[in-house]
Amino acid sequence: MAATGSEEQGGRAYYVTTPIYYVNDAPHLGHAYTTVAGDVLTRWHRQRGEKVWYLTGTDEHGQKIMRTAEANGVTPQEWADKLVDEAWRPLWEHLDIKNDDFIRTTEKRHTDRVQEFVQDLFDKDEIYKGGYEGPYCVGCEEYKLPGELLDGEGEFAGLKLCAIHKTPVEILKEENYFFKLSEYGPKLLAHYEANPGFIQPESARNEVVNFVRQGLQDLSISRSTFDWGVPVPWDEKHVIYVWIDALLNYATAVGYNENPQKFEETFPADVHLVGKDILRFHAIIWPAMLMAQGLPLPGKVAANGWLMVGGEKMSKSNLTGIKPQDLTSHFGVDAYRWYFLRAIAFGQDGSFSWEDFSARYTSELANDYGNLASRVAAMVGKYFGGTLPEGTSGGAAEQAVRDGLAKAVTEADRKIGEELDFQGGILAIFDFVKQVNGYITEQEPWKVAKDTSPEGQAALATILYTASEALRGVAVLLNPVMPETSQKLWDSLGADAALGALADQRVADAGTWGRLPAGTTVTKGAVLFPRLEEKQA
Ligand code: MSP
Repeated sequence: MAATGSEEQGGRAYYVTTPIYYVNDAPHLGHAYTTVAGDVLTRWHRQRGEKVWYLTGTDEHGQKIMRTAEANGVTPQEWADKLVDEAWRPLWEHLDIKNDDFIRTTEKRHTDRVQEFVQDLFDKDEIYKGGYEGPYCVGCEEYKLPGELLDGEGEFAGLKLCAIHKTPVEILKEENYFFKLSEYGPKLLAHYEANPGFIQPESARNEVVNFVRQGLQDLSISRSTFDWGVPVPWDEKHVIYVWIDALLNYATAVGYNENPQKFEETFPADVHLVGKDILRFHAIIWPAMLMAQGLPLPGKVAANGWLMVGGEKMSKSNLTGIKPQDLTSHFGVDAYRWYFLRAIAFGQDGSFSWEDFSARYTSELANDYGNLASRVAAMVGKYFGGTLPEGTSGGAAEQAVRDGLAKAVTEADRKIGEELDFQGGILAIFDFVKQVNGYITEQEPWKVAKDTSPEGQAALATILYTASEALRGVAVLLNPVMPETSQKLWDSLGADAALGALADQRVADAGTWGRLPAGTTVTKGAVLFPRLEEKQA
């Protein structure tokens, strides 16, 4: 589902989603990881000039939310409202997330459409009434297969545990409605085969293919033992299974059965970003639901790995107390956005440590990038009174810088924009930053400045123009990752007056040499990455 890449605002949008998060608690680093990745991806495509739609939201039905609300003595709706207003929306704002919409599954625009979708499947005989008994994990909101469970130890001795949550499963016995998922195995396998990029990374794809090859069971899509959910339209004693309700957000938020034009322009998603814990829902159940309705399938389901704490998936219970805000108050929002994508290969698990973050902040952000920006601006100030001088094309050293920028643009565009290899893309940009640092060290402009002959001054002008123009490219390339810092650099280069707003600069032009014209006012603005305060133990 390639987007058009055109500047005009009609036509198809590049549509990216995050999971909609359970509101049983406040967001943690793991949730923020996926949401920042989606934000960088969509900002990248905006910077390419594409029309983009970035969706996030909250999953508010189901037993898990209901029990949390009960435990806190409020209704589930009150609980969800409070969490969304006080925790979820503010965090995304704080982290500079530019989502185009925020869907909540308790909104009428969603619940009405969910009922219509399910009624339609019922009318098409894709849903039937049956009975089921099996182990259920409320944390996952999912029936488990006996082979997937662990044997409990200690306080859980004799019980069977969910392998993800490490908590006992409950045996549920219900008479409810089933979706004929078992019929979709061969069609799903054919789709995976014909679209090798449908599930990313390869390990995730293999896991799904193996699972589907073993044969799918029909899926229970209603619950009758509690009532916090969307009523089944033809049998109101049941509510729709929270996962069916939740997956449909990707359609209801963009006009399914409501706004045909919006739906046509947006649906299906180009990329569903998900944690690997919820891969099967997105790569098996969701496409099967769409096939049953004759709707088009998403372009890609991309699974990110887990942020780990002490060898376990980071979750509410093992957070060790670190909130995203604790890190942003120490390192700043931009460094936070950068760090996890830089440090962990997307798709792999990774651990967080203060030490690693501090070390990378200091060496890569403050020393390599921040110092380069401030040194160049300071020298343009000192030697040319803050007016960017005219350079010549110089020699081999300047040519290498020009080639380096062009290469960084091509690589970062492919890696971030297409392959979702955020780490590789960021490294390509930072390799270029290192190259420009090396160029300055070798050229020694502070020595060249002592030569006051016209040739000496021209050589100095060329060095500082080359470095400033290189920084112009870096500001554009890093804008999707660290928008606040890129803006500071853009301002410091005086680029706005000459080239217009940073957001309007296109990736395709970022490597075109000579865009920043001589004569701009270069100022040594605020330090991009201040020295870190001593961490409070
Ligand atoms: N509500 C469902 C998703 C429905 S989507 C139709 C859900 N919610 S959740 O609140 O549990 O969030 C799950 C998502 O948060 C994961 O898929 C992942 O994207 C992110 N993460 C939560 N913990 C994480 C880590 N420890 N590490 C990385 N990502 C994690 O499941």
